[in-house]
Amino acid sequence: MLASKFHISKIHTIQVPGDKSVSHRSVLFSALAKGESKITGFLEAEDPINTMKSFSQLGVNYKKIKEGEYVVQSPGRFGLKQPSQILDFGNGGTGIRLSAGLLAGLDGINTRLTGDESLRKRPMKRIIDPLTDMCAKIPSENQDGKAPLLVEGRKLNDFQYKSSLSSAQVKSCLMLAAISSGVSLDYEEEELSRDHTENMLLFLGGTLERKENFRFIIKPPYNLSGAEFKVPGDISSAAFFIVLGILSKNSEILIQNVGLNPARIGILTVLRKMGARIEVENERSECGEVIGDLHVYSSQLRKIEISSDLIPSIIDEIPILTIAGLFAENGFKISNAKDLRAKESDRIHSMVSNLKKLGVQVEEFEDGYEFREVKEIISKVQIESFLDHRIAMSFLVLKTILQNEISIDDDSWIDTSFPTFKKILKELHQ
Ligand code: S3P
Repeated sequence: MLASKFHISKIHTIQVPGDKSVSHRSVLFSALAKGESKITGFLEAEDPINTMKSFSQLGVNYKKIKEGEYVVQSPGRFGLKQPSQILDFGNGGTGIRLSAGLLAGLDGINTRLTGDESLRKRPMKRIIDPLTDMCAKIPSENQDGKAPLLVEGRKLNDFQYKSSLSSAQVKSCLMLAAISSGVSLDYEEEELSRDHTENMLLFLGGTLERKENFRFIIKPPYNLSGAEFKVPGDISSAAFFIVLGILSKNSEILIQNVGLNPARIGILTVLRKMGARIEVENERSECGEVIGDLHVYSSQLRKIEISSDLIPSIIDEIPILTIAGLFAENGFKISNAKDLRAKESDRIHSMVSNLKKLGVQVEEFEDGYEFREVKEIISKVQIESFLDHRIAMSFLVLKTILQNEISIDDDSWIDTSFPTFKKILKELHQ
C-alpha cells in the first residue's frame, strides 16, 4: 500500500464555498420568481457567475452586497426580455443545460447558448431530444447535438418522460422548461439523481406529487415569488478535504456547513464502507436542504464493491475517490459509470492516462477502471488536467499526501468551481 507522508499538526476547521448545483439553481429560480430575492453563500466561481451574467442579459438584476451575497430583482418569468448577445456558460454543463430548459419555455424569446472548448464537446442531445418532444425548438447550430444551441422560446406541451439516464441536469432542464412554460411534467428516472430542483420548487411554495419508484409530477400554477436562498457548502468540494483528512497521518479535520442532500452523500457511504471514520454533527435543514458539519479522522482504507445504485450520488467524486483507492488495501474498482466520459473531460480516460503516467497498472473498461493494490508510484510526473477542475484538484491532493514532485500542466480550471482550493490546502500545511 502507498504510505501517506502528510500530517496535519492540529485539528483544522475549514469551510468550503457554496454548492455549485444549488448556486446555479438559486440564479435560475430567482429569475423565475417575480420581485426581490436574496442569495447568501453563493459560489463565487466562474461557472455560476456565468449563469448569473446570462440571466442579467434577460433583465434580471443581481446586485452584489458582499462576497457570496446578492439581492436579486426580477420581473418574473413573464417579464424576461430577449438578450442582445450570445449567452456564454463557460465550462458550466449545469448552467447551459438547465438554462436551455428554462429558456425553451419562454414564449417569444430567442437565445443562442454556448460555452468553452470543453463545454462545446459535451453531449446536448440528452436535453435536445426530450425538449423537442415537449414541442421546444432547440436546434444545435452545427447539427451535431452540441453547443452552440439556438433556443426559440415558445409555449410547450404537458409532458411525460421516463429517462434512461439518472441525470439531475436532464431532470432539472425539463422541470425548468415546464415551470417557465406553465405546463405539467411527469418525470421518472432509474436511480435518484440530486433533487435540488425539486427541493427549491417546494421551498418556493410549489407542489410536487411523488409517485412510486423515482417518479414525480409537477403541475401549474407556478406562482413563484422572491425568497431568500441560502446556499450550503458544496460536498463535492468538501470531498477533496474529506479524502485528504482520511489519508493524512494522525489527523482530524472539521468541515463546517456542508450540504448533505441524501442524493449527494454517496461519497460518505463509500468512504465509510472502505473503512473511513467520518462523523456528521450539528445536522439541520435550511431552504429544503439538509446541512451539517463533517468530522473526518485519519483512517485505513480497503477495497469495496461500489454498487451501481450509488453511482449518481458519487458521479462528481469518482476522481477523488480514486485517489483514496490508491491507498486502499487490495486496490480500487469503479464500474457502471459510463457517463463519466461525458463530464468536463472524459474522466475515465483522464484518470486512467494519468494513473498510467504514475506507473499504476490500471485496466480501463467502457464504464470504469480497476487497479490492484498500489505499492509505489513514480513521483516526478506531470499530470494532464484535460481542461477539468476535478482532475486537477484530485492530483493536487495526491501530491500533498505524498509530499512529492507531481506537477499539473494547468490548474487554472480549478477556478470554475473552487477558487479558494489552493488557499485552504496551504492553510492545512501550517
Ligand atoms: C449536476 C448534475 C450532475 C453533476 C454535475 C452537476 C447538477 O450531472 O455531474 O456536476 O447540478 O444538476 P448529470 O446530471 O449530468 O449527472
